[in-house]
Amino acid sequence: MMEIDIGEVSKYVGKIVTIKGWLYNKRSSGKIHFLIIRDGTGYIQAIVEKKYVRAEIFDLYDELTLESSIEVTGKIREDKRSPFGYEMDVESIKIVHKTLDYPISKKEHGVGFLLPIRHLWLRSKKQWALMRLRHTVIKAIRDFFDSRGFILIDAPILTPSACEGTTTLFETEYFDEKAYLSQSGQLYMEAACMAFKKVYCFGPTFRAEKSKTRRHLMEFWMIEPEIAFANLDDIMELSEDFILYIIERVLEQRREELKILERDISRLESVKKPFHRVSYTEAVNFLHKNGFKDFPWGEDFGTPHETKISEAYEKPVIVHRYPKEAKAFYMKEDPDNPDVVLCMDMLAPEGYGEIIGGSQREDDYDKLLKRMKKLNMPVDDYKWYLDLRKYGSVPHSGFGLGLERTVQWIAGVHHIRETIPFPRLLEKMYP
Ligand code: 4AD
Ligand code: MG
Repeated sequence: MMEIDIGEVSKYVGKIVTIKGWLYNKRSSGKIHFLIIRDGTGYIQAIVEKKYVRAEIFDLYDELTLESSIEVTGKIREDKRSPFGYEMDVESIKIVHKTLDYPISKKEHGVGFLLPIRHLWLRSKKQWALMRLRHTVIKAIRDFFDSRGFILIDAPILTPSACEGTTTLFETEYFDEKAYLSQSGQLYMEAACMAFKKVYCFGPTFRAEKSKTRRHLMEFWMIEPEIAFANLDDIMELSEDFILYIIERVLEQRREELKILERDISRLESVKKPFHRVSYTEAVNFLHKNGFKDFPWGEDFGTPHETKISEAYEKPVIVHRYPKEAKAFYMKEDPDNPDVVLCMDMLAPEGYGEIIGGSQREDDYDKLLKRMKKLNMPVDDYKWYLDLRKYGSVPHSGFGLGLERTVQWIAGVHHIRETIPFPRLLEKMYP
């Protein structure tokens, strides 16, 4: 018997095939049983009619519990009225393993109940749609940079020093030394771009931030391009093309998943170039007029401020030139205003907040060293990084896009925890 994936069922209309999967749902009119089967590649309705199957097959219905694994054989038929487009007229059913008391039922469950059973929750339809969307976003990210001549350079995960500041590091032991889980591959990408011009890394990153917001994970995936001879304008432009590329790919390939997620697709379709660009100072003025009249110039934006700014726009907005004191040590000072640095954050619309953070890097040896000393950084640990400013230093820039924040926005889900298969949340890492 030919065994097929539900995802390719359209090729088998009129054929008798076997589908191996799990029972997702069932109902019966007495004479006809309707089974919804999922096999991980899709969903299909299988019809078991009393007149057409042997009695022992028809009577299996009562034993078919939700999430039992089954093999079902029958003829595929196109059905325009069916939400799945195709149906199977069942000839035989085999139970592979009978499930008893599956904890997730078809009624709504709270997240407190679902998170500890994430290993089962992943089977639910919305989670299925989200992970397939995530897959497509990852593929689009790779294709975008690969098609533009970037070289993938993997950054280490165990690192001897901090990239984004010491307060959010997970510490571990590396034999007799201390090591930290990487917060960002950026510093290594800066070295790599001097060897390969255009590079990117794409890996897990770790933040021991004690934040419990709907946008923070302790472990998340970040894509970080870095380009030699590029300035702030170059990467702002690149970041726009990049986001458009991802959105277009998703609209092309993941309509069904977006529908399952009840995403308003018109919001994604309205993302067009150019994105809005405002300076930090302009953004602060906007906040002053919109509910945050005491926000002090000089502070970094928090979640509520980003939400407010990004709600004001249909499309993503790029906020550039933040105060130097609020940002990381490696950012290059604006030659026109020493109080700000040549950096950018991209905020997603509809209140989703920052999805990209990037900057032009300080490429002057003396300025960088002075800055690091002023911040009391252990300069010796960064000798290799300073070397890059000693041997053929050039202007260079890059950014980091948070994968899960991007999926969160595109999918339109409220909380970031659902956008990664097994989320690491504040003090929660089971399973
Ligand atoms: O703005 P961040 O901290 O920038 C960097 O790490 C730079 N070194 C990147 C670079 O220039 N190469 O982080 C970049 C992005 C954020 O815009 C956000 O999308 C995501 O990473 N991010 C998080 N996502 C989920 N949970 C967290 N705790 C995150 N922190 C940052
Ligand atoms: Mg940032």
